[in-house]
Parts: sequence; C-alpha cells; structure tokens
Amino acid sequence: MSFDLVFFGGTGDLTWRKLMPALFQAFRHGKLPPGGRLLAVARDERTDDEYRAFIKERFAEVEPSKRPSDEEFARFAELLHYRRMDLSQPAHYAGLKAWIDERGADTAVLYLATSPYLFTVICQQLGAAGLNGPQVRIVLEKPLGHDLASAQEINRAVRCSFKEEQAFRIDHYLGKPAVQNLMALRFGNALFEPLWRRESIANIQITLAERLGVGTRGDYYDTTGALRDMVQNHALQLLTMIAMEPPPSNDADAIRDEKLKVLKSLKPFTPDSVARDVVRGQYKAGTCDGKPVAGYLEELKVPAGSHCETFVALRTEVQNWRWAGVPFYLRTGKRLAAGEAQIVVNFRPVPHPIFPGTRLANKLVIKLQPEDGLELHLLAAKGGGSNESLSPVSLDLDFDKAFRSQRVGAYERLLLDAIAGRLNLFVRSDEQEQAWRWVEPVLHAWAADTEGPRPYVAGSWGPPAASALIARDGCTWSEEQ
Ligand code: BG6
Repeated sequence: MSFDLVFFGGTGDLTWRKLMPALFQAFRHGKLPPGGRLLAVARDERTDDEYRAFIKERFAEVEPSKRPSDEEFARFAELLHYRRMDLSQPAHYAGLKAWIDERGADTAVLYLATSPYLFTVICQQLGAAGLNGPQVRIVLEKPLGHDLASAQEINRAVRCSFKEEQAFRIDHYLGKPAVQNLMALRFGNALFEPLWRRESIANIQITLAERLGVGTRGDYYDTTGALRDMVQNHALQLLTMIAMEPPPSNDADAIRDEKLKVLKSLKPFTPDSVARDVVRGQYKAGTCDGKPVAGYLEELKVPAGSHCETFVALRTEVQNWRWAGVPFYLRTGKRLAAGEAQIVVNFRPVPHPIFPGTRLANKLVIKLQPEDGLELHLLAAKGGGSNESLSPVSLDLDFDKAFRSQRVGAYERLLLDAIAGRLNLFVRSDEQEQAWRWVEPVLHAWAADTEGPRPYVAGSWGPPAASALIARDGCTWSEEQ
C-alpha cells in the first residue's frame, strides 16, 4: 500500500523529537509499508537535502539504541522530503495537492503537528483545496482545545472538510503497549471479568507521575496546567479503558461507544465537590534524583505568582451498575518522587478472615512505564506453622522482557495505525468533548478561587492534601501501603 505522510509543523519539536524517531523505528523494523513518502512542510525555505541534514542532526538527541547508523539514515532519508508552505495561502495548498496527486498514492495522511490555533485554518484550506477526498486522513495532535468551546470549534472545522472516520485524534497514551494489553487482559481473558465490578473491587488508582519539571515549556504549560495537559486526555482515557463494558466487537466505534458511556457516567463536579474531591498543587524547590531543582515559579517563561497547577489528585465515581460507589482516584504531577505510570486495582479483602494478622487484600498493578507489565499481588503462607499470618507475594509479568523484540513504541504504533486507517486507538470527537464537559466545572471553580494551588516539595508525592483526600475513604495511595 503506497502512502504519503505529510507533517504540518515539519521542523517543530514534536516532529523531530517524537514522530521522525518513531517512523525510523518502524522503518528499521520493516513495519513501514513500502512505497511511502514522508513530507515535512514548514514556513522556511529548505531543500530536501537540507531538511534531511536537519533531521540527521536531531537524531543525535534520540536515545542511543534508537539512533540510525549512517547507512540506515541514508536509506531512511530517501523517504524524506520538504516543502515550504505559508499555511494561510490557498496557492500553497494547491501546490501540495499537485505534489500528492502527481503520484496518486493509495493514502495521504496529513498530520497536524502545529500549534492548535492553526488547526481551523489548515482544515478549512485543505477542504477548499480538495485535499479531503476519501483517501485522505487527518491526524490531530493534542492539545485539542483548552475548554469545551474551543474543542468544539476545532471539531466543527474538521467536520466541515472531513468525515469523522477520516479524523485521527491522537492521545499517545492509547498507543502505549500496556494500554493495548489492558484491552487484552480484560477482553481476551475470562479470568478477571467476573471480578471486574463493585462487588470485588474496593477502589482504582491511576497515577501518571513524572520526575521532570516543565523544562523549557513554561509558557505553554502555564496556560495549560496538569488538568488540561494530563487529566482531560491521558488519565481519562485510561479510566475509560478500565471501566468500559465489553464492546460487541474490536471495531473502533464499538470500543469508542463504550468509552463514551463511561465518560457520560462520571460523577459531575459541583463547586462543593471540587473543593472536597480535587487537590491541585504546584511544586516548589526540592530535590529530584539527588539533585536540587528549582520550583515551578522559578522555571523559565513562568509568570510571577502563577497559579498554574503542576499536580492534580482527584476522586470520582463511575455512576452505573458495575461501578456504583467504587472510588476512582486519579493523580498526576510533575517533579514527583518517581517517574511512573500505573493503574492499581485494589480488590476487597476476604469477607471472613481466618488467618491472623492484618487483612491485606489482593491488588492488580498494571504498569505502563517505565516498565510495561502486570503484577498480581496475592497472599501466601510461608509454611511457618498453622498460626502464621499470610505474607504478600506477587506474580510478575514483564511484557517488556517477554515480547521485547516485538514491542512497538506509542507513536510508532499510532503512526502505523493512521497509515493503515485503523481508528481503534484514536479518540472520537464526542469522547473528547465529553471529557472537556467533565473537567470544565473544575476549571471554573479554580478560576474563582483566589487561594491557588497547594505547594509541594519537588521530589515528593505532591501536597499532603492528596493523601488526606484518599485517607478520608480509609484508603492509601499505593506507595503508602
Ligand atoms: C504529554 C504532556 O501529553 O505527555 C507532557 O503534554 C507530558 O507534559 C507527556 O510530559 C508525558 O508523556 P509520557 O509518554 O512521557 O508519559
């Protein structure tokens, strides 16, 4: 299948930091379909060779095992092309169309890796130029809006030129191998399904913790914050995968219909419940990885006195028969004690204990990163006599180790799926809008609150109020157990 993959924002960070390295991996693994051309478009004048040299130089910043040798790069570079475009000029879109039409590849994938404020104009111009035929797919990178109204505006612009099935909205967490495994765990194995409900599960915790601070992205981050940057998309997508009903098939819409139902079942926030169930924090100076690090307010391009949150912990519920009353705790932050993403499913303890000692319960830990695997925590007797209390043991499944050679990174997976036209791991507009609808009352409550976020020391697990939030239900975060 021949394809043209066009990157708007072809010289931007996302393209050279994530997309080109991912494509190179696909190329190296022989997964990139043959007959492909990769076209970067951007504002400045460059030749193909200059662009290839630019990308080659940038590969020096990629982790060593993923860097191409000179010979590999030379072969990969044959696919790379560059084109100058002023995104407001209709003639430039006509030129792009002519470039694509000349070869008549089976598919043209247009990836908008630009600032989102350009999405509307690009979509309009693509439609006007006739670059929206059935063989065209458009990939939209987050952030998709900063609230419901702006997300709807982008979706309207997309809809004016493209059908929903041509729109591939990226949430790169959905491309992570562990997330696909979550689907496999739940719907490819019968073992957990009978337990996957309120009768057996005490609570579910989703933690997306980063050691890194905001780095040089202070200006972007300050207008975004952790709720928009991580909760509205990544954390909620994970929650939907955990809580959804079994879909009738593995088709994209069958899955997305079920995910949407979960989003619609989330307990809505009110000003009172925001005050009670949502904790926002902002890091101050501390120590990360043994090194002193600056506080958020000292970071580059962060305005003095900013109230932007770099940490969020919240409690919610999925209001349906399966999950009524089960707390879902979501937590994310920068400059935390660990860089890890995981989902912990805490099961209820046995109803009638017959062994001495504390009533520990089973838990299933779905690890997304840094490793990718599953841990099932059970209780076992060491064999120390009949009055022995049970000890925790865990069954560890290290997917990285088991499937190492076949593991595909998130962007590699999603790019290959976009080329192949598989929508399963992309977000539909109604899901995305519903997620905005749910977080908006939190944004409004914070806008009206002059107190601002609670400080936490960089390198900690966030403000103490996050522990208090969960302790109220008699629970603890997994690292406190
Ligand atoms: C991005 C956020 O969507 O996800 C970043 O904008 C964040 O702020 C990143 O650092 C985290 O992704 P990952 O894959 O490194 O966990």
